[in-house]
Amino acid sequence: MNQLFDETKIDVNGPVPEKELERQYYYLAKARAIVQKQSEALGRPLTCMVVTFGCQMNARDSEKLLGILKSAGFEEAESEDADFVIYNTCTVRDNANQHVYGRLGVLNGIKKKRPSMKIALCGCMTQEETVIEKIRKSYRFVDLIFGTHNIFKFAELLVRTYESDGMIIDIWKDTDKIVEDLPVERKYPFKSGINIMFGCNNFCTYCIVPYVRGRERSRAPKDILREIERLAEDGVKEIMLLGQNVNSYGIGLDDPISFAQLLTEVEKVNGIDRIRFMTPHPKDLSDELIDVMAASKKICRHVHLPVQSGSNRILKAMNRHYTKESYIELALKIRERVPDVAITSDIIVGFPGETASDVDDTIDVVRKVQYDNAFTFIYSKRTGTPAASMPNQVSDEEAHANFDRLLAVVQETARSRVKLLQGRVMPALIEGVNERDPKLVTGRLSNNTLVHFPGDASEVGQIMDVSLDQCEGFYYLGNRVEHRG
Ligand code: SAH
Ligand code: SF4
Ligand code: F3S
Repeated sequence: MNQLFDETKIDVNGPVPEKELERQYYYLAKARAIVQKQSEALGRPLTCMVVTFGCQMNARDSEKLLGILKSAGFEEAESEDADFVIYNTCTVRDNANQHVYGRLGVLNGIKKKRPSMKIALCGCMTQEETVIEKIRKSYRFVDLIFGTHNIFKFAELLVRTYESDGMIIDIWKDTDKIVEDLPVERKYPFKSGINIMFGCNNFCTYCIVPYVRGRERSRAPKDILREIERLAEDGVKEIMLLGQNVNSYGIGLDDPISFAQLLTEVEKVNGIDRIRFMTPHPKDLSDELIDVMAASKKICRHVHLPVQSGSNRILKAMNRHYTKESYIELALKIRERVPDVAITSDIIVGFPGETASDVDDTIDVVRKVQYDNAFTFIYSKRTGTPAASMPNQVSDEEAHANFDRLLAVVQETARSRVKLLQGRVMPALIEGVNERDPKLVTGRLSNNTLVHFPGDASEVGQIMDVSLDQCEGFYYLGNRVEHRG
């Protein structure tokens, strides 16, 4: 239900409304009529599938896409053998792209047996011109391509796809538009991501995100808070505030506020028990934010603080704006001020010019900070980024040898950190029934560690105290502890 205007007054035969939100609801009503007609002709409901690649931003965007599709009358399918399939793509590393091309080949096979099927592509990959050329030439069976900046007009594009025959391509270079209040279909009833800002201005030299997601723009605090209040009313317990660098939230708003101030406001929303956020950049994580975390009852004890490299020379070439020393100081300060906090990281190996001794510096950071976990990536050359044309690109063999060395230390520190909680009792949010053993449920601790313990499906979405009895490497086996008194 839309609370801003009366959807029932929309006249699909009348003129297209000018205001963006009303315009999209007009097209949604049109899409509904098309879907209804097609399903009457087929004698069955139309089905859809949204496939997500990449990060939490894309996962949230996919919930918006599914929201539109379901409001239009599609039923969610279990597989890609569906009437409307959309790939929400990622291009952060080349293997993400290759994966999409491979899967598209499979989709073509399905479409040959299902001629009325529509295939759509959106997300970060589609913001690259070379990708569009390749799809145009070699993947003619794709019906619709749009980008990251105009995802809000998916309802309109959906209608156009059904009203025309050729491939529809609608890609914007950038946007300053944020359209609020479109339908969303959440994946989990008990937790949700929330965009607090879009885009990135940091231009780390290896990274393609600023080119495909455009410039930073923050949502107004009132819109964010209203969304969180509605989620709380809907039973959501845990939220994750999303942005490429949440520390720069609020810059450029008419009434600028800091990320720490936003968190303080979010903390006041009744019904929300846990607040997470991702990602704070190490260059500008403020003392104010650490103070707010330390004082908070709801902000989870987890900071994802990507270091990327521990070598000052490489950090400079990456345009990261911090040093090995300032990073370690920051991480240790967070550990000191926020007890039980887990610190995790992203690390890239094989950036142009990186030597084994640079990787030694990275390993030194891992040892000193004692990461609770870290994602390690082999550098992937992204066309158009400054690093792609830097001299001394590192060979695959060298990168892999360094990667293996680093990974061994990352795993060793992660194991020793996880073990520290042995014997403690901590609250866990139950996320689901254990995939391998249906007598167990899987819960997530505030610091992001998983614990498996006896329980059943009716408890999903609840927060319970659990004893952390047995550490199994990166997770725990435990038991529920009843509250006394
Ligand atoms: N804004 C976030 C991360 C976004 S991308 C941040 O600054 O931390 C997620 C991770 O992908 C990055 O942290 C980085 O480690 C990795 N990454 C980005 N570009 C990459 C590339 N070209 N090759 C390998 N890894 C990359
Ligand atoms: Fe990429 Fe850097 Fe922006 Fe993160 S902060 S998205 S790594 S450019
Ligand atoms: Fe990938 Fe785009 Fe996220 S490139 S990592 S999906 S912002």
